[in-house]
Amino acid sequence: MDNRLQCVFLSEDDIKAKVKEAAAWLDCRFEGKNPIAVSVLKGSVMFFCDLVRAMKTPVQLDFMTISSYGSSTQSSGMPKIVMDLTASVEGRDVILVEDIVDSGNTLYKMRELLIGRGAKSFTVVTLLDKPSRRKVDIKADFSCFEVGDEFIVGYGLDYAQQYRNLPYIAILKREVYEK
Ligand code: IMP
Ligand code: MG
Repeated sequence: MDNRLQCVFLSEDDIKAKVKEAAAWLDCRFEGKNPIAVSVLKGSVMFFCDLVRAMKTPVQLDFMTISSYGSSTQSSGMPKIVMDLTASVEGRDVILVEDIVDSGNTLYKMRELLIGRGAKSFTVVTLLDKPSRRKVDIKADFSCFEVGDEFIVGYGLDYAQQYRNLPYIAILKREVYEK
């Protein structure tokens, strides 16, 4: 394992099992509907692809790139839209797929934006949740795993654009980002 990683936090099998659960939860909630699933890039890309493939509900896919970090581990608090959706969400059931909810700023902004554009419903599924770091009062409807105040990489999540392609989720050593 890379020497900047402290340990594996979630194995490929741990992730697979939870993704199945999340997909079943969505299938139940959206039975008979045709929701639009939105991947918040780049972090949610792996989770998004596995999640929608595990769903039985027909679902439309769209992507939005939001940037809030630069290369540090502290959220700027001002998430920016780098690339917008191609589809209209007006009157649609939207499933927002996030990698991690940290301060909650990104999610808050996405909710305001998509509800403002006339989405009929707004459901949030996140791979990871860091409730101890929340700055705005917002929660995902389905959260796969809770994490403490640690920096997580792999399965889409990066540190300075690295580690996204790890198939598992690891904890980054504190000394890497606290020097
Ligand atoms: P928030 O706006 O502070 O909730 O941050 C959300 C975004 O910050 C996520 O979508 C991630 O891209 C990034 N982020 C927050 N915590 C971590 C982490 O532990 N590892 C990697 N990225 C993170
Ligand atoms: Mg990120």
